[in-house]
Amino acid sequence: MLKTRIAVLVSGGGTNLQALIDAEKSGVISSGEIVLVISDNPNAYALERAKNNSINTFVVNKKECFSQADFEQRIIDKLVSEKIELIVLAGFMKILTENFTSRYPERIINIHPSLIPSFCGEGFYGLKVHEKALEYGVKVTGATTHFVNEIPDGGKIIMQKAVEIQDGDTPEILQKRVMEQAEWIILPQSVEKVSKIIKENK
Ligand code: GAR
Repeated sequence: MLKTRIAVLVSGGGTNLQALIDAEKSGVISSGEIVLVISDNPNAYALERAKNNSINTFVVNKKECFSQADFEQRIIDKLVSEKIELIVLAGFMKILTENFTSRYPERIINIHPSLIPSFCGEGFYGLKVHEKALEYGVKVTGATTHFVNEIPDGGKIIMQKAVEIQDGDTPEILQKRVMEQAEWIILPQSVEKVSKIIKENK
């Protein structure tokens, strides 16, 4: 049976993309293959990671698009031409509207660096999530994978993993711990889980 064709959307460093690439190599992901990496940021280091692993890349710079609809359409056109079946948002920092998300019901996975429904939604991304968690004083945080719908961070949860906050944590220290202990584990596992379902239903 043919593997599920996966596109990973990125904006920055791409450590979650790296975790996915490593998981494909080690066999944690066996039902899907990453065939495309799309970035809205032409300078994202994630693009280098893709190139180093011979994965096709595509850049859609929002500043060069006429509108949000145009930005989304350029991405959709590429996804369609590459016959993508599963989209993974791995540190993708742009919001996608219903026009985009409704085309791929339960076919877009996002990783968010907190235990949803805490510290999520518009304005909560990257380091800011950890700043807010420390500011609030929670003792446990973590990461969540979920399907993407029209509500930011509002789709059905796939997996969650808790991570303890320690005395003296800075947002940077906490971000690293959440990545190592939660994100890089549950994102590949979630991608395999959904890839398998898609593959078996072909
Ligand atoms: C990750 O912590 C990811 O969970 C977060 O941005 C970081 C990207 O790092 N995503 C969000 O905040 C989405 N709302 P990476 O580029 O090294 O994977």
